[in-house]
Amino acid sequence: MINKKKLWKTTDNHNAEDRIETIKKEPVPEHVAIIMDGNGRWAKKRALPRIAGHHEGMKTVKRITKLANKLGVKVLTLYAFSTENWKRPKHEVDFLMKLPEEFLGTFLPELIEENVQVQMMGEQSQIPKHTLSAVEKAMEKTRDNDGLILNFALNYGSRAEILTAVKNIIRDAKNDILLEENLNEELFSRYLMTKHLKDPDLLIRTSGEIRLSNFMLWQLAYTEFWFTDVNWPDFKENHLLEAIEAFQRRSRRFGGLS
Ligand code: FPP
Repeated sequence: MINKKKLWKTTDNHNAEDRIETIKKEPVPEHVAIIMDGNGRWAKKRALPRIAGHHEGMKTVKRITKLANKLGVKVLTLYAFSTENWKRPKHEVDFLMKLPEEFLGTFLPELIEENVQVQMMGEQSQIPKHTLSAVEKAMEKTRDNDGLILNFALNYGSRAEILTAVKNIIRDAKNDILLEENLNEELFSRYLMTKHLKDPDLLIRTSGEIRLSNFMLWQLAYTEFWFTDVNWPDFKENHLLEAIEAFQRRSRRFGGLS
């Protein structure tokens, strides 16, 4: 029988279980956000269609969700589809919109068993009904789970989110629900799609791109960033462990002194 503990050897030759236990002795980022980039390039390198990269990327989502849960991460936010991704060819958009159904179709029982709660943030009105209902079903079935929150950013764009917040604040001010003098950063945050979540502690972006691409611009103000050249389909458990180890070596001062 295969010894599961030996399945993913790490660079420093400790087995993964030991490495996880060591990591858990230090504070683990409570909220990890990931820009899952490089699916297209992964596919191109293998002379495969771009959608093959997205499909492989979905498998990475499964692996990384399981590990994040095991590590005690509280929220994992994944940038699955941006408000700008509609510019892609229709067949690619259609494929991306089918992925949540496939993912949840096969993985939902495991998510339920692992006490994971599925959530979603993004502008829902443009999302196809079949995609939305798959995610809503998963949200409903996992809503009492209190383990990892797996938060899909689907049709998400940070500028649009901020603009909607501003419009709602103006509306509430006009209706005397909100007093201008009470408006501060904490109250503003409550108008965002992440109102119930703490800001990300760690942001990971794969594929060598060093930019935010309209992702959680407000929420990432004091987040630690970790970039890797690895394309998302090649992002393995040891990469997440590496990112978290790097996070644990950082000194977070939030503008103050350590
Ligand atoms: C960016 O890579 C990736 C996306 C736009 C889609 C990300 C989606 C997944 C990884 C699958 C999501 C799975 C679920 C369960 C919803 P790219 O296509 O821009 O890559 P490229 O820059 O190499 O072209």
